[in-house]
Amino acid sequence: MTVMPSVVVLISGRGSNMVALLDAHLPLRILAVISNRSDAQGLEQARSRGIPAEVVDHRLYATREDFDGALQGCISRFQPDMVVLAGFMRILTPGFVRHYEGRLLNIHPSLLPAFPGLDTHRRALAEGVRVHGCTVHFVTPELDHGPIVAQAVVPVFPEDTEALLAHRVLSLEHVLYPQVLRWWAAGRLRLTPEGRVEVAGRPAWGPSGCYPGPEQ
Ligand code: GAR
Repeated sequence: MTVMPSVVVLISGRGSNMVALLDAHLPLRILAVISNRSDAQGLEQARSRGIPAEVVDHRLYATREDFDGALQGCISRFQPDMVVLAGFMRILTPGFVRHYEGRLLNIHPSLLPAFPGLDTHRRALAEGVRVHGCTVHFVTPELDHGPIVAQAVVPVFPEDTEALLAHRVLSLEHVLYPQVLRWWAAGRLRLTPEGRVEVAGRPAWGPSGCYPGPEQ
């Protein structure tokens, strides 16, 4: 019997990406959801689906190193194959990131390397970009940076508000992240020694706006 690969999901708030992962019924085990905030809405969503939900409150630790050490301790109790950041809004220390090198994925609401950091939709509107989107990437010590796995593109309309654009991007985040985890679970993602990501199969551009697309 083959054992399905396993993940732990880290969140800080709403948890809609985590819910999208849970609801996609991927061929992997979601062992736990961990939040740095006890009031994260996503915690209840996880518990109501029978997933253990833990809190490691960053305010209880004097330094980033102390917090990351506690977080690593919590994650290691579950022994996941991959750690999935899904709206986890803490800057991670280089030591933590190096420990999980090649085993740490993030989703970011912009077409990286454009608009790392916060307020991506507001900044995209201010710059007048015509397309915007989201990126799934492996995490490196640099904030919102690292080998790109997949991106999804949306148009930016003249009448867009920050809320409209955020909603348009988020609905594609919910397509893109499960798709990437599906590839990973099937052994189709490879990180090359040069730090590029290869997705086995023929990359397809589909109507979803995701590339490589779920149509692949
Ligand atoms: C998502 O848009 C995610 O891409 C973003 O936070 C939101 C979390 O929403 N992450 C980042 O900005 C990371 N730099 P969710 O809690 O509903 O999944």
